[in-house]
Amino acid sequence: MGFKRHTITAALPYANGPVHIGHLAGCYLPADIYVRYLRLKGEDVKFICGSDEHGVPITIKAKNEGITPQQVVDKYHKMMKDSFAEFGISFDIYSRTSSKIHHETASEFFKTLYDKNIFTEEITEQYFDEKANQFLADRYIVGTCPKCQNENAYGDQCEKCGSTLSPTDLINPKSTLSGEKPVLRKTKNWFLPLDKMQPQIEKYIESHKDWKVNVYGQCKSWIDQKLQPRAMTRDLDWGVKVPIKDAEGKVLYVWFDAPIGYISATKELLSPSPTLPKGKGALSPSGRGGEELWELYWKDKETRLVHFIGKDNIVFHCIIFPAMLMAHGDYILADNVPANEFLNLEGDKISTSRNWAVWLHEYLIDFPNKQDVLRYTLTANAPETKDNDFTWKDFQQKNNSELVAILGNFVNRTVVLTQKYFAGKVPPAEEFTKTDVLLMEEICRFPQKISASLDAFRFREALAEMMNLARIGNKYLAENEPWKLSDQKRVETILNICLQVCANIAVLAEPFLPNMCINLSSILGIGKLNWRDGGRTDILKTGHPLGTAKLLFEKIEDEAIDKQMEKLKKSPSPPLPSGGGKEKQKILPNGKNLGGAVTIDDFKKLDIRVGRIIEALDFPEAKKPAYKLKIDFGKEIGIKNSSAGITKNYAKEQLKGKLILAVVNFPPRKVGPFISEVLTLGVPDKNNESILVEPGKDVEVGGKLS
Ligand code: 2FM
Ligand code: ZN
Repeated sequence: MGFKRHTITAALPYANGPVHIGHLAGCYLPADIYVRYLRLKGEDVKFICGSDEHGVPITIKAKNEGITPQQVVDKYHKMMKDSFAEFGISFDIYSRTSSKIHHETASEFFKTLYDKNIFTEEITEQYFDEKANQFLADRYIVGTCPKCQNENAYGDQCEKCGSTLSPTDLINPKSTLSGEKPVLRKTKNWFLPLDKMQPQIEKYIESHKDWKVNVYGQCKSWIDQKLQPRAMTRDLDWGVKVPIKDAEGKVLYVWFDAPIGYISATKELLSPSPTLPKGKGALSPSGRGGEELWELYWKDKETRLVHFIGKDNIVFHCIIFPAMLMAHGDYILADNVPANEFLNLEGDKISTSRNWAVWLHEYLIDFPNKQDVLRYTLTANAPETKDNDFTWKDFQQKNNSELVAILGNFVNRTVVLTQKYFAGKVPPAEEFTKTDVLLMEEICRFPQKISASLDAFRFREALAEMMNLARIGNKYLAENEPWKLSDQKRVETILNICLQVCANIAVLAEPFLPNMCINLSSILGIGKLNWRDGGRTDILKTGHPLGTAKLLFEKIEDEAIDKQMEKLKKSPSPPLPSGGGKEKQKILPNGKNLGGAVTIDDFKKLDIRVGRIIEALDFPEAKKPAYKLKIDFGKEIGIKNSSAGITKNYAKEQLKGKLILAVVNFPPRKVGPFISEVLTLGVPDKNNESILVEPGKDVEVGGKLS
């Protein structure tokens, strides 16, 4: 169905710390690229974001810093807002959930559901810290994750396996306030009956066939395990007060109020919002009349709602928020929720507490005017289908060998030659060779190819296509060597075509490299173009005067990279409890080097799962013969990569579909250019070549060895 307008949201980040590259790669950059692309196509778009200023992450930060929650959010809201703006994330609004308009909107929303008798009121036993005299919601409590045995899982979520939890799910719970073992105490809260809504939610998930695999996987896993009622209020004092009687000392659950933040930010953006005239047809674009402008972006079926998020936010955006919207009744639901996986840094999980991060505000100081280099590197390495790694060496290489050597070099040579031979005026193109025609035909196909990738949220692919345009231009110029020719007409044609490629880059690269495009447009002496100008080979008319030449990208020297590595080395980096890590593997699944006897607790630390091989590829870069395997471990763990030295006993073709066992909770290992995330289990044959351990056919993918 065609849509008239788009509401695009990016997850509201908690205002408890500065923005880092993991945030950018997770959702803000892909969202920005997508929005810029829609705007270039002339679509009606609102790009909405803001700070998530409630919830336990804020109050914990306040306690750690010895300041009030309000001071925490004031400090980080400003910092995040400023760095997003300087980096060029083009939000139409960056609001905050401590605002009056948000408190009113969230209260009103809760009240509507309450008045419709949607909630069930339940008295349940919740953990209480007697020392701190406080109920322990969400991140106020840690314990062992029942799913993956991570000992540092939070009361709302295990950051290692991504499971969404409740405090009472945790094994050995401990208060993060006092470190004490909590007691259970009765308290009343209001629950959203997701159990009763299961059929509607299931229908919603199933009717949207274009979810990304990771998104669908998590939703399906929740649905298959049957949805449970979820408390929408908390016994806390920081947040939106529960707007009903008998609810003293309670606030709305942060995951109830935060997504409503998208709505209140839209209201704020479009305020003062004229009420559209009542009456059929009238001036109301939706034809319903009587509504305010913001409502069109949230209630009109011809609006497409898309939420960009990180993978830890999937169920909140695909199940809980849609359930709230369905229960309310007036709102549209998200058409898609593109969620990325996580970005690691130099092979290790990004961590605020260990200062293992590249902070955006520091990057902007260390690399002034190099926003596009970071945009390029993060998009080229986007963790779209699996966790991915950012390294400073790769950042330097992408800048020097791609942006400088290909794109920048091509544009510069084209412009300098035009200055030299044609006094900076676009030369005519009258006679074309077969190669010219083929190139021009290829140029025509680029907008459509890039669009297809962007429409499917495949940003890496879209960026690679855009770079191919520069690559073919560069190759054409190098092969035709106009500087060696004496045939004036031929030189004119070659440079005309190269200039048209430059103009195409100025349009098609804008979503990815907006600053470069501003400079390129000024070099070419053109104004803002539209997506539909892309593909044309007559954007620059004969005789058009170019602007002044200047370099689009500069080389990044080793010193700048060494400085960043030094900075990282100064970060405290104790071994991680689990997940991605730099530490060497110290244990083997056979326990050989565990130093003698192992206890059952040692054994339980290993998460060994059944997986199905979905792809086996050659791995020529590996030091020893190996395959690169893609293995599906079901909804909870997802798809993981593994390098396996099994080439002697298996042909690639035999492997697809095989059920295997693998340890899934070792730190990812770098094997050459590849990150091996799980250890596939094998036993040696008589030649000491590995044979895979294959569980029987009746086991389920994702099943855990115990
Ligand atoms: O994970 C987070 O950082 C949350 N603050 C995201 C909230 S998204 C939305 F619902 F507001
Ligand atoms: Zn877990």
